[in-house]
Amino acid sequence: MNRHSQYILLQWIAIFVISLTMALQPLWTGDPDEEKMYEQQERTWLFDESIVGKYAQIHGQQPDPESESELSGEEYLQNLKMQASELRAVHSDEGYKAITALISPEHPLPPDYIPENMSVLGTRAYDGAMMRAEAAEALERLMADAEANGQILYVISVYRSYALQERLHNGYIASMGRAAAENESAPPGASEHQSGLAVDLSCESVGHDLVEAFENTPEGRWVAEHAWQYGFIVRYPKDKTHKTGYGYEPWHLRYIGVEMAQLIHETGLTLEELYEE
Ligand code: DAL
Ligand code: ZN
Repeated sequence: MNRHSQYILLQWIAIFVISLTMALQPLWTGDPDEEKMYEQQERTWLFDESIVGKYAQIHGQQPDPESESELSGEEYLQNLKMQASELRAVHSDEGYKAITALISPEHPLPPDYIPENMSVLGTRAYDGAMMRAEAAEALERLMADAEANGQILYVISVYRSYALQERLHNGYIASMGRAAAENESAPPGASEHQSGLAVDLSCESVGHDLVEAFENTPEGRWVAEHAWQYGFIVRYPKDKTHKTGYGYEPWHLRYIGVEMAQLIHETGLTLEELYEE
């Protein structure tokens, strides 16, 4: 091999060694892009959308990776439950009459319970439509602000007595069978409507009906986005029927106070999940 060929060969060996070194470098130093990706994945898991991600926002701050990174999803959930229990404690002496009470087939109201302080609703409601005064005042504001934004909402159902719920529920069972009826109608005593804190809203484009299609109307979208600001939650969300026991009801709002409504709106948790032990 002459000198020139030796020189060329050495050049190729040098290029090969340098390329090999560059290719293998991440194995011992770590690829910065890859590290960032793993960090990102871990953050996404730690600040899981449904449970965790909104926690810090509720407290008006961004998650602090330094102080929060040690907490697991389960610990965040415990934090949220603690937050909910502090909010509930404010009304603890009111029992089932509390605006934060869980009302369900497992936690029914007494058959003779009629809320004491109810007001008649004056805006696009049926004759005799009543709600607890605090909820009625919040609903009137919600409807006025929706209207100012071009959304015309109608009150379809508010307070219902135990006896009325019983008649409605039995009617559903007669027409669709028990299983289907119980998926959309609470048994007497178990309806939030008996508490005077629930309202069913609808709009003209869905024929003032209580149907899932309400979700995709401008009115339904406005309600889903803003109801919490007035202290209402969409009580039976689409993806939580296994938790609530009821099908999706985008029309059924429950008054629960602004702070609890914000917690529920921002975390996507149901009362069952927040209150269960
Ligand atoms: N539709 C709801 C679950 C009720 O009957 O109260
Ligand atoms: Zn309802």
